[in-house]
Amino acid sequence: MLKSSLFSSIIKTSVLLSFVGANCHVFAKEGMWLPPTLKSRETDMQKMGLEIPIEQIYNTSGTSLNNAVVLFGKGCTGEIISSKGLILTNHHCGYGTVQGLSSKEHDYFANGFWAQNNSEELPCGGLTVTFIRRMENVTDKITTGLTDTIPEADRNNIVNTRIKNLEKGYKVSSGLDATIKPYFNGNQYWVILSETYRDIRLVGFPPNGIGTFGGDTDNWSWPRHTGDFSMFRVYAGKNNKPADYSKDNKPYEAKEYFTLNISGYKEGDFTMVYGFPGTTNEYISSYQLNQIYSIIDPIRIEARTKRLNAWQEQMQKNREVFLKYTSKRAGVANGWKKWQGEVRGLKLNDALGKKQDYERNFQQWAITDNSLPYADDLLSQMAAKSLSINDILKTDEYFKEAVYGVELVQQASLLDKMLQVMRSGLNGSALKDSLIKLSKASGGFYKNYDAETDKHVFDVLMPLFMNKCAGRIPATFTKQYNEQGKNYSRWGDYVFSSIVASSEDIAHFADNSAAADSNKIKNDPAWILYNAANQYRSTYLTPNINRYYNDMAYLNRLYMNAQMQLDKHKIFYPDANLTLRLTYGKIDGIDPDGPAGYSYQTTLDGVIAKDNPDVDEFKVPQKLKELYTKKDYGRWAVNGTVPVAFIASNHTSGGNSGSPVLNAKGELIGTNFDRVWEGTMSDLYFDPNLCRNISLDIRYTLFIVEKFGNAGWLLKEMKIVNNKKK
Ligand code: ARG
Ligand code: GLU
Repeated sequence: MLKSSLFSSIIKTSVLLSFVGANCHVFAKEGMWLPPTLKSRETDMQKMGLEIPIEQIYNTSGTSLNNAVVLFGKGCTGEIISSKGLILTNHHCGYGTVQGLSSKEHDYFANGFWAQNNSEELPCGGLTVTFIRRMENVTDKITTGLTDTIPEADRNNIVNTRIKNLEKGYKVSSGLDATIKPYFNGNQYWVILSETYRDIRLVGFPPNGIGTFGGDTDNWSWPRHTGDFSMFRVYAGKNNKPADYSKDNKPYEAKEYFTLNISGYKEGDFTMVYGFPGTTNEYISSYQLNQIYSIIDPIRIEARTKRLNAWQEQMQKNREVFLKYTSKRAGVANGWKKWQGEVRGLKLNDALGKKQDYERNFQQWAITDNSLPYADDLLSQMAAKSLSINDILKTDEYFKEAVYGVELVQQASLLDKMLQVMRSGLNGSALKDSLIKLSKASGGFYKNYDAETDKHVFDVLMPLFMNKCAGRIPATFTKQYNEQGKNYSRWGDYVFSSIVASSEDIAHFADNSAAADSNKIKNDPAWILYNAANQYRSTYLTPNINRYYNDMAYLNRLYMNAQMQLDKHKIFYPDANLTLRLTYGKIDGIDPDGPAGYSYQTTLDGVIAKDNPDVDEFKVPQKLKELYTKKDYGRWAVNGTVPVAFIASNHTSGGNSGSPVLNAKGELIGTNFDRVWEGTMSDLYFDPNLCRNISLDIRYTLFIVEKFGNAGWLLKEMKIVNNKKK
């Protein structure tokens, strides 16, 4: 595994160098547009190939495509692909939910899951999907009468009250949920009118051999062969409205859903991605960019490398540990790899240098223009504030990634809650009941916890923390460490004698606590660590960091405003904030003219070429190999193979996973699931030469559903078109 990833990164380096600095021929389009503002992009989009009116993408009468895009769970996108509420999203977006439905007996990761009719669809407790019905610009209502430079705290008070009142009004008048969010760092506000459905059921989920094929080795990279999709269904109660789970609920009747176009695409074709990008910071100063680049990202990478190695070792030894940690590991590894790409991309592009150039221009505009007197010293203020917090930010990041990287330390918060209950004056059976309730509520944690694995993590992360944060270490940490002979493994043994290390111990404690002994908690080694970390952070770190971010929120709002007024060349779009956006670009290989032996598209042949029965990440399921051997592709055959994935130049971010990828007519040709590693810096700095989103070809999805999952019944409810067939 290591070898192959090393190899691929060497290839990538040479590919990368060959097009850095090359002429910017590409059509990549920076920007994540709010649907109601798309009209201003229409001409540009038409020039690039858009063939439908903007009103079909977004309008306020409930008939546009936004009604077929959902926020899936807490941070992914999904799309409706049938009139019966069928949702298509990524495999990795359904992963956590499917983990909850899986067991050793029902190992959906190993075997996949394919409902054969509605009654076999599995309820997913806790999962929700949200439809965005409408958005309105309410900036005037929120900011009227407020001067730009009013102190942030006063402004927040006024703004928050206005937001609450206005949301209430919108809820009443629309009968929908209403949320008001800031855009452009608080220079604009939009109300989002939405509906959240709560009865969601699992319909189809390929085994990991397809859905996570390539694993972390291939994650964030191109060429890619992951069948990263899963299917769910929205169920509705009376009148097609949201309802809690009930067996009487019916599949949601969707008026708007995507037509699937299976006739293919070619390089240069227009594409759009409609979804929920989570967080970008495109307009920050070089000082904040430098914090991410040289403090935050490197610490996260360093600590996670250690944590992941420790997990991996245990997961390989024991299938139960694998099942417990697979979802957690995927999440931790995902950021780990992304930040490596981000740091590298920022460096290769000299993003800091470019920001500094921009800031020199900005300073010039600010001094020349008299309309915004506060603009002149914004940058110097941001510089001073950023520099003074760097040391504290560094320590805090080590706390978050190293100390809290040990799950046991976090779990000791349970003891803290118990302690508070004990101190609240409850006693006897009332106290006992409360403690038992708390202990039971933590069941979910223990279901996915292995103390031995976590102890290995302790053994590698605590030395990191102690070494890197010398001078800023809580006294209690040093005391425990010294008492255990300055030996990390012994220290770990001691800490893991905690009663939160096992669900039995904590349950036993809760059960026998009628005469509660708070000393037992106060002497618990994990609680002591947890408490010391919290005390230290809340005394020396958090207040400073909060003050810093508050100050920066103020300065960044003014800086954003000033950039928008003074920069006459740029077209501004708001940073991502997990609200609905449309981005557009073109199907575009990453190195169309260079030496790379691959193009903008991958195929099933490439999947088979990567097959390696000895490596979990690259084990192709037997049945898929049989389909390949027999060339049993049905109508999904294209030039003797099946297309799998493609790349395009749409500006996407985390949260866009599962987003519909559309052609010029607004028909679905794929599902977004990743970006190329070299371009992940696009959250901070977008470079059209390097930034590509990766999508799963809808034909591979349908091929897997029909031929591999034998769930062809699902295709009957979809609207599938093929321009090539008359
Ligand atoms: N990189 C993709 C995203 O950011 C996919 C993550 C899931 N896959 C994985 N191997 N961790 O969400
Ligand atoms: N995989 C990401 C997600 O879950 C999308 C990739 C990206 O960050 O662009 O949102």
